[in-house]
Amino acid sequence: MEPCSRTTQEKGTPCDLQDSLFDDTVLRTMNTDKCKFAMKGIQYPTPGTSLFARPLRRSDYDKGFLQLLSQLTKVGDYSKEAFEAQFNSMQALPGMYYVVVIEDTSTATLVASATLLIEHKFIHGAVIRGRIEDVVVDSEYRSSSLGSFLLELLTCFSEEIGCYKITLDCKLKLVGFYEKFGYNNEGQCFLTKRFKD
Ligand SMILES: CC(C)(COP(=O)(O)OP(=O)(O)OC[C@H]1O[C@@H](n2cnc3c(N)ncnc32)[C@H](O)[C@@H]1OP(=O)(O)O)[C@@H](O)C(=O)NCCC(=O)NCCS
Repeated sequence: MEPCSRTTQEKGTPCDLQDSLFDDTVLRTMNTDKCKFAMKGIQYPTPGTSLFARPLRRSDYDKGFLQLLSQLTKVGDYSKEAFEAQFNSMQALPGMYYVVVIEDTSTATLVASATLLIEHKFIHGAVIRGRIEDVVVDSEYRSSSLGSFLLELLTCFSEEIGCYKITLDCKLKLVGFYEKFGYNNEGQCFLTKRFKD
């Protein structure tokens, strides 16, 4: 069976969901009324011409995923096998890792990515909360609203699935970017103890 792609989805052809980190029916059917991108006529999974948003795939090692992430932080040089092992660990925890990427289908390269992580809590009456992680847009594609699209998509989705709140940490210079989407600096401290670089 072929991997899920824009063509398979548009034609409704059965495709190999095992290649996908999660089944994105949840994103395609979610209520986007509160999302600004929907008000501009943009919908998942097509944020622009030749752009296709979708869950991360096991095969994305070959589509520049690590090179994209290296525009965010240090990634390290590791094998496809190591990538796949990490992917498999995440896929084995359904409902926890939502890594959404945007592929430029004209070059078969990933140009943006963002992650929503769901944490189960024993507080507030046993709830779930969301965390946004690793938002990055390729430098050639910035200022085209792709960062906004991914952030809003995952933020709306976290509310839709019942998160009581969603948080993220970022560099001070990016506070303004996230405030545009309703994130507030509540003055809490974010502390780090690093064991490795
Ligand atoms: C931050 C980042 C994801 C933004 O993505 P993008 O696709 O270029 O952003 P958008 O085009 O969606 O911009 C949305 C809005 O935020 C604004 N914006 C973008 N970067 C900003 C920043 N650093 N500070 C404040 N506002 C910013 C834009 O001007 C735009 O405003 P407008 O809607 O009023 O015109 C991208 O610059 C990036 O990948 N940076 C490097 C990696 C990184 O730092 N990631 C964040 C980790 S916390």
